[in-house]
Amino acid sequence: MAPITKADWIWKDGTFVKWEDAQLHLLATAVQFGTSVFEGIRCYDTPEGPAIFRLTEHLQRLVDSARTYNLDLKHDIPTLTKACVDAVSRNKLTGCYLRPVVLLGYGAAGLEADGSPTETYVPAFPWGTYLGADALQAGVAACVSSWQRAHPNTFPLMAKAAGQYLSSQLMKWEAKKNGFQEAIGLSPTGLVSEGTGMNIFLVWRGKVYTPALDGTLLPGITMDSVITLANDIGITIEPRQIPREMLYGADEIFFTGTAAEVTPVSSVDRKPIGSGKAGPITLALQKRYLDYAKGVLPDTHGWRTHVKS
Ligand SMILES: Cc1ncc(COP(=O)(O)O)c(C=O)c1O
Repeated sequence: MAPITKADWIWKDGTFVKWEDAQLHLLATAVQFGTSVFEGIRCYDTPEGPAIFRLTEHLQRLVDSARTYNLDLKHDIPTLTKACVDAVSRNKLTGCYLRPVVLLGYGAAGLEADGSPTETYVPAFPWGTYLGADALQAGVAACVSSWQRAHPNTFPLMAKAAGQYLSSQLMKWEAKKNGFQEAIGLSPTGLVSEGTGMNIFLVWRGKVYTPALDGTLLPGITMDSVITLANDIGITIEPRQIPREMLYGADEIFFTGTAAEVTPVSSVDRKPIGSGKAGPITLALQKRYLDYAKGVLPDTHGWRTHVKS
């Protein structure tokens, strides 16, 4: 996995600080207890210059995550929008990744963190294909994880909170150790939930399904984009309950996520999916998604926020 490629500046609560100066104390509440919510957003290099994909929806989810975790986020969506646009242009980036973070800093010793300030950062930095250079074409080998996703009303999984990613890390570590590239998590009732940082779709006898929002998965913005773009070309995607064994009999499977984009799954638990190569529906939706994000298709849904260089 590629290390972070540093940029020069990070937006912090209304000003820019040098990349190296965006530091936290060891005893910040976010470090001790994981109290940090964040977003992962891609900016694509389009023919009209850099354009951040679905920025408003990502920032709305950040606001919702902060509200869920009682973080006193002091910036509204227009302010955060400008912060993201400025973070790209100030760092002279084109295609890149943004990772806005709202966290509790240093102050309180215990869980009742009133004494810790809420700090907001917007880093932007270059980032290529998440699951490896040829993952978008060749697909990835996935396994069903021995770790389950959390039960609803334990962790609020519609929020994107750093501490919740301990579970994703366990899944990912186990998968890699056993020779897989990705893991698929099951819900506490044993139904298919999602990947470590991505949603999952499957094509089953000509129909496309994705797990219904059941409190065990993040409602992905890429998931929403893919459902909308599929609908535009007459493919209906139905959210439903998906038993594990549907994975093994699927004609096609793919992951969606801001980082993963639309990545085919070539096998699950070493059983090839379909022909073991990316299937036609996966490739059609992947192309439509990337063409839209990269500015090849017109912005009919108003999803691109342009950055003036
Ligand atoms: C656990 C999890 N599920 C799904 C997703 C996909 O969400 P999105 O498409 O909004 O990036 C992500 C990525 O943010 C994630 O971390």
